[in-house]
Amino acid sequence: MARKIIVGTLISGGGTNLQAIIDACQENRIDAEICFTGSDTPCVKGLERAKKAQIDTFVVDYARIIKDCKQHGIKDTDLPEDFDLEEMVSKQRLMVTDASKEQVAFFLKSRAIAERKLLDLVLAYEMDLLVLAGFMRVMTPYFIDRINTEPGQHKIMNIHPALLPAFPGTDGYGDTFRYGCKIGGCTVHFIDYGEDTGPIIGQKAFEIEDTDTLDDVKRKGLEKEWALYPHCIQKFAESFA
Ligand code: GAR
Repeated sequence: MARKIIVGTLISGGGTNLQAIIDACQENRIDAEICFTGSDTPCVKGLERAKKAQIDTFVVDYARIIKDCKQHGIKDTDLPEDFDLEEMVSKQRLMVTDASKEQVAFFLKSRAIAERKLLDLVLAYEMDLLVLAGFMRVMTPYFIDRINTEPGQHKIMNIHPALLPAFPGTDGYGDTFRYGCKIGGCTVHFIDYGEDTGPIIGQKAFEIEDTDTLDDVKRKGLEKEWALYPHCIQKFAESFA
C-alpha cells in the first residue's frame, strides 16, 4: 500500500471537488490527507466544507491585492525581495497575446505580491502535493518555482472542465457547449508555466445530447470530476510507494 501523502488544497468557490477529495480521504479510498485549504476569495462555501472536516483554512484576497496595486501603483518595496521581473518575463507563458510590456509587468508584479502571501501560508506546511480544486487564479513562475523546487518535479495538480488541449481558460464547459461539441469532459493535469498546458494525468469524457442545456453539461462534468480527481491523487500517492 502507498504511504499517505500530505495534500494542500486551494479553492475559489463552492468546493464540490474539495468535498469529493475530503470524502475520499476520510473513507480511506485514497492514501492521502489534507493539511490545509486556502482560498483567493473570502467567505466561500468551500472554506466551510474544510472547517467542517477540521482542516486548517486561510484566505489570500487576490481581488483586494490587485485592486490596491491598480489604485496605488506598485513600488519596488512592495515586491517580494527575491522577485526578478526579467526572469519572470522570460519564463512566463500566460500572456502571449498582444499585451504591452507594461501590462505584462503589472500582471507579473501584482500576482507575485499575492503569490508571496500565499507561499508564506502554504510553505508553513510540509506537503507532498498541492491540489487546485476550482482555484480560479493562474500561477506565475514565481509561485510555481517555489513549490516545484526539484528539476523536472511536478507538485501542483489542477482540474480543468474540458478535454484539454481543447478549451483552456476560465469557462471550459461553457466553451465546450457553445462550440456544439457532442463529447465533453474534464482533465486533471500538472501545472506548468502556460495556461492549462501541463502534463495530463487523467481525463473523463461524457456525451452531450442535443437536448442538453449548459447546466446539464456542467452537472455531467462535475460528476465526472468528483471521481477523476481522487483517482489522480491516488495515482500520485502510488508513485511514492
Ligand atoms: C470545476 O468545474 C473545476 O473544473 C473548475 O471550477 C469548478 C469548481 O467547482 N475549475 C476551473 O475552471 C479551473 N480553471 P467546485 O468549486 O465545486 O469544485
